[in-house]
Amino acid sequence: MTRKRVAVLISGRGSNMMALVEAAKAVDYPAEISLVVSNRPDAGGLGRARAAGVATAVVDHTAFGEDREAFEHALDTQLRAHRIELLCLAGFMRLLTPWFVARWSGRLLNIHPALLPRFKGLDTHRRALAAGVTRHGATVHFVVPEMDSGPIVTQAEVPVFADDTEETLAARVLDAEHRIYPQALRALAEGRVSPTTPSADNAAR
Ligand code: GRF
Repeated sequence: MTRKRVAVLISGRGSNMMALVEAAKAVDYPAEISLVVSNRPDAGGLGRARAAGVATAVVDHTAFGEDREAFEHALDTQLRAHRIELLCLAGFMRLLTPWFVARWSGRLLNIHPALLPRFKGLDTHRRALAAGVTRHGATVHFVVPEMDSGPIVTQAEVPVFADDTEETLAARVLDAEHRIYPQALRALAEGRVSPTTPSADNAAR
C-alpha cells in the first residue's frame, strides 16, 4: 500500500492534527502525516507535532502583509517541497483564496465544529446554545472558496443538554471531531469520496 502524503495546516493547539497523527500510526491507514504547517510561529500544535516526530514548518502570514496570494505561494512551496498530495485544515484560521482552493481542489478538507450548513463561521457553540438546538456536532467537508460551504464528507451529531456551557459542549463536539476527521481522511486517501460523490456522507463511515 502506498500511503498518501498529507499535510495538516494549523493555527493553534492542534488537537485534531494529533488525532490524525495518531490514526496514521495504524499499519493499514492509507495516509501518513508528512508535514504540519502553521501560519503562527507560537501555535501550540507545532511542539506536539515535533514531539510526535512529524516535520513542521511555519509560514507566518504577517510577513506578507495584505498579500494573501504571496502567503499562499510560500505555503504551496513548502507543500511541494514535501511532495504533499492531500491537505487537511485543522483549526487553520486563514481564509484561502480561490487560486489556492482551485490548486488543491478535491484534495483539501476542513473540519468545522457545527452541523453544517448551520452555524458557519466562528463561535459555533455559543450560537448553538443561544439558538436552543438539541443536536449539535461537527462536519468534515471539502473546501471551496466560500467559507464552510463545500461538499460534506461526514458529520457527527452530539446531544445538547440543558445545563451545557460553551465549554462542556465544545468538549463533547471536539471528541466527535477527533473521531470523524481520521475517518474522513481515510475515505479521501482511499479514493472513496470526491466533491461530486453522491451521499459522500455515508462513504466515510
Ligand atoms: C476545532 O474545533 C476545529 O473544528 C475548529 O477549530 C478547532 C481547532 O482545534 N476549526 P484544534 O487546534 O484542532 O485543537
